Amino acid sequence: MEIKVLTDSFYQVNTDALVVAIYEDEAYQEGLGKELDEATGGIISSLFERKEFRGKANETAYIHLVPSLKARRLLLVGVGKQAKVTSLQLRQAAGTVARFLRTKKVKTLAFLLRDGVAIEQAGQALAEGALLSTFDPDTYKTRERDRSQIEEFSILSTTQNQADLEKGIAVGKILGDSTNFARNLVNEPSSNLTPKDMASKAEEIAKEANLTIELLDEEKMKELGMGSLLGVSRGSAEEARLIVLRYEHPEAKAEETIALVGKGITFDSGGISIKPSEGMEKMKGDMAGAAAVMGAMRAIGQLKPKARVVGVMACAENMPSGTAIKPGDVLTSMSGQTIEVVNTDAEGRLVLVDAITYTREKLAATKIIDLATLTGAVGVALGPVYTAILGTCQELIDQVIATGNEVGERYWQLPLDEEYGEQLRSDIADLKNSGGRPAGTITGAYFIKEFTGDTPWVHLDIASTATSNEKKPYLSKGATGVGVRTLVAWVMSQN
Ligand code: BES
Ligand code: MN
Ligand code: ZN
Repeated sequence: MEIKVLTDSFYQVNTDALVVAIYEDEAYQEGLGKELDEATGGIISSLFERKEFRGKANETAYIHLVPSLKARRLLLVGVGKQAKVTSLQLRQAAGTVARFLRTKKVKTLAFLLRDGVAIEQAGQALAEGALLSTFDPDTYKTRERDRSQIEEFSILSTTQNQADLEKGIAVGKILGDSTNFARNLVNEPSSNLTPKDMASKAEEIAKEANLTIELLDEEKMKELGMGSLLGVSRGSAEEARLIVLRYEHPEAKAEETIALVGKGITFDSGGISIKPSEGMEKMKGDMAGAAAVMGAMRAIGQLKPKARVVGVMACAENMPSGTAIKPGDVLTSMSGQTIEVVNTDAEGRLVLVDAITYTREKLAATKIIDLATLTGAVGVALGPVYTAILGTCQELIDQVIATGNEVGERYWQLPLDEEYGEQLRSDIADLKNSGGRPAGTITGAYFIKEFTGDTPWVHLDIASTATSNEKKPYLSKGATGVGVRTLVAWVMSQN
């Protein structure tokens, strides 16, 4: 899909479908709604009067023949109340219309830009919406893929600030593509995306986005004493990989290194503490944290903020076998702390802590954000709406929450009081890897906290937001790519 700017007036634009965003409270009485109503011989007013269309968010009305327009079709899309329209509504509207028009075999559309949202943000939102919405998890479909694709998504704008608009579109494309890249990884079956395959993907991204890459194999990890990560991998026929992507701007502050750390379990069977078979197929997506980090690093490499960022992905497969770790085993982590593995299904924290120690000791990280599909409990607490956020630095937590609000990803903070640590006390080692059912998301985070020392750290539990069981008018089912846009926007804000 090509995303571009057109400067024609709305009645002259030559396109398959002219798209106009309509405010719920403006309707046809004023502004562009009125102009369009007059130009179309009262189409908008009659739709409103017959209550066929009210301008509610993501509502559509498809009109076939409007003699006064050069466009072959007119599509109205609701964006809700005018005062509440932000780039979030624009992104959804762009997504809704792209998904809708695709089913009508439309090849070209022109989305009329209205004022309200700053032009650069508007361009970015529309580009993101267009790209995110037309992504579908259909790589393996051989029969239903003849659905047509939108070839040209034009933004119709007569503003003076074309350069700002183009800039916004360029950023939106990078973010949309990088998020879709992460979504593809999450949807990919585990047999086609092993830790080694994750490493190959990272190599491709390093080339594409001008990043440097380091791959640590199991031998190297052994040398470093990563007994916790290697313990998880031990039962699998697939070798683990610790992937490090580095980005550095020549003018980056010398003393600051941001580390983005992702859980990359390419399949989580639970290990010897095996999961029930019902729903186990979803565990191919247990590398969504690592995928988000890879997607974010791709975007960061292309957007070039004045920063130094390392993306660390802890990739392994969690399998039961004769060589697997067993409940009761004790692992020695790279930090030196010992861990009693009381549940081999609490493996995400085991791979993350060695990755985190590596970022602190070998990469001199000064701020750490980790992302992980860590606990089923987060779905019980927050459902598919909010990602849980926890950490040791309130300022950093607040920044991530605020960034999330700007980009349309929601985070809800959970507490991390010391008392929760009591659930992780082991009789024979420094820590045990599971605190049982109560406060599962908090104790999972607490375990990780024990390895972050004095480095400001934030943890995002994306287990219930990384995939969606429901399709939306503007988004397909499956992987969401959650985290990518928050991480990139936050890094950009650090400059
Ligand atoms: N990968 C799972 C968490 C998960 C569950 C992600 C559902 C996505 C959907 C994680 O490794 C896990 O198994 N966690 C355990 C922890 C427990 C044993 C302390 C859980 O949540 O049950
Ligand atoms: Mn698990
Ligand atoms: Zn897992």
